This record gives sequence, structure tokens and C-alpha cells, in this order.
Amino acid sequence: SSASKEGYPHFMLKEIHESPIAVKDTISGLLSEIDKVSEIAEEIRESSRIIITAAGTSYHAGFYFSLLLSRKGYMSIPLIASEYHNFRAKKGDIVIAISQSGETLDVKMGIRKFKEEGAKIIALTNVIESDIARESDYKLYMRAGPEIGVAATKTFTSEIASLLFLYSLIEKESMSYLESAHETVRNVITETEGFAKKIGEELANKNNAYYLGRGLGVPLAMEGALKIKEIAYIHAEAYPAGESKHGPIALVENGFPIVFINDGELVDELEKNLQEMKARGGKTYSISVNKRLNFADTEILVNTDEKLSSLAIAPIIQLIAYYASVKRGYDPDKPRNLAKTVTVE
Ligand code: G6P
Repeated sequence: SSASKEGYPHFMLKEIHESPIAVKDTISGLLSEIDKVSEIAEEIRESSRIIITAAGTSYHAGFYFSLLLSRKGYMSIPLIASEYHNFRAKKGDIVIAISQSGETLDVKMGIRKFKEEGAKIIALTNVIESDIARESDYKLYMRAGPEIGVAATKTFTSEIASLLFLYSLIEKESMSYLESAHETVRNVITETEGFAKKIGEELANKNNAYYLGRGLGVPLAMEGALKIKEIAYIHAEAYPAGESKHGPIALVENGFPIVFINDGELVDELEKNLQEMKARGGKTYSISVNKRLNFADTEILVNTDEKLSSLAIAPIIQLIAYYASVKRGYDPDKPRNLAKTVTVE
């Protein structure tokens, strides 16, 4: 009903706008059980390998977390939930299962198998006392509130916030940067929504797009491509930008849209990839945090603590997809062929 959308035309837009409060509640919730979360962080630190299993948007949050860990020398493996047959766990392993609903069957099947093989399981879910939480040794909750839109939005942002929190505990680093996380998300939405709408409406006229990033920007590029595919039915692929030379660039011709996710870290390298795309007529967009990506045709630039870059990028890629969907005349809350929770293999 329109009442529960609180004046927003769609749940998706309402839920993107709820991201700041979702992040705030997530972080204060984790702070309120800091002893338990510290114990989990200790288990992760002491483990021999960290396997992260999840599907869809939750997989992208998991992949992001895995990159944070492997950068620090941890043995971390991101695993698409349905591919659990391809991994054999053993004693000493920690498996982190990330699932908004806590019900995704592929995730459930995987943790059952890994548990039998001797791993300890940590669940990160939004739904409290979900199947996946109940079957796990340790339960972490994000507190994003209910999400009605089929395509995950605020729960992705809350997953990232939860994982940053956990990461900082694992690394025993100061968590003070997280105090302003919700403000960053709020400011980003306020400052960029109009620009994201413009980009989304331009992309609505296209049938294909690339999302390119480097480093920690890669999972965000993957999420950007997934979102626009899910709700605007635009064929979009994400690549690590450096890999785009090995195939994807063959398709780039006049007007082909490429969205660059620039988290501020590997800007010079990304800029070279952008130039290669432009030289072939590609229409380039950049979503940049802290440092400009020169030569992009259209740029969104936001400033925040570099550790919060992913939280700043998340609502922007969601808004782009939302406005592309609406412009194409679709209902972003109910994408065809997709379900909020997938309980089949
Ligand atoms: C479905 C939803 C996605 C979601 C994925 C994983 O595909 O449409 O939005 O990311 O399931 O769901 P989960 O509840 O496990 O996070």
C-alpha cells in the first residue's frame, strides 16, 4: 500500500533512503554485543582459512570482506553459495555465511556440508533466528529492518557496515571511523541522488553496459551491474578494469556506456582504462570517492573517510539502477523472474 511506502513511489526508493538509519542501527547493535563480536573476531583471526559463502548481493558484500582480509595476509576464499561442492572444508576453517533472509537454500546446504567437514560456521543475517542463523555456531545480525524490495539495497549497505565492524575488530584497529558511517551514507544520498537519476535515465536508453573497478571497487562494480540487470533489465557486466582489455573492450563502440567505480585507491591505473574506452567512443561515467577520475564524461564525486568508500558508493549504484528501471517503465520492487528469497537449488 502507498501508506507503508511512506510517500515514496516504491519500496526500493524508500529502502535506499533508509540506508543511513540501517547503518546506524547495525553499528550500534554490534556495539551493544561487542564481547560476542570480539570473540567471533578472535575465532577468525585464529582460523587457518576463512571461507565466505553467499549468493547474489550478499556474495558481493562477502567478496568485499574477503578482499579486505586477503590484503592483510589472511587465507580467505569467497565462494558463490551454489558452488559449495567445489570446496572441502576442514577443522580449523571458519565459514562465514552471509544472507539477508537467512534462508537461501544454497547457503544452507553449504554450511551443512562444511560443518560436517569440521569447520565452524558464523552467520551474518538480517532476519533474526532464521534457518541459517540457527544452524550456525555463531550468529551476527545486521539490523537493517525489513526489506520489501526484491533487489537488496539497504541490507547490502548494512552487510558492508557489519563486515567493516568485524574487520576492524579482527585487525584490532580503531573503529572511530564507523561513528560517522551513517552520516556519510545520508550525505551521499542527499548530494548525489539528482546526478544518479540523470545517469540512470541515460543508461535506460542502452541495452548493454560495463561496470569497471579496481581493488575494493571490483565487488562494488559487480553489485552495480547486478542491480541494473535485476531491475532495469539492462545487460551489464562487471570486470576488474585491468581485465577489460582481455575481451570486453572488443564490444566498445560509439556510445557504449561504461561506469567506473573509483574508490580513490588506484586512480591512475583506472584512468588509463578509461582512456582506452574513450578512445573507442565509449561513454564514460565515474563514481569517485575523494579523488577525481579525470576525463570521465560524467562524474559523481563524493568525499569521506577512505575506509567508508564502499558505503558511499553503494547507494549511488542502487539509485542509478532504480532510476533506469523507472525510466524504462518497470516496477523496481517486483522484477520479473526474481524472488526475494530463493529456497530452491
Ligand atoms: C535473491 C534476491 C537478491 C539477494 C539474493 C541472496 O536473489 O533477489 O536480492 O541478494 O537472493 O539473498 P540472501 O537473503 O541470501 O541475502
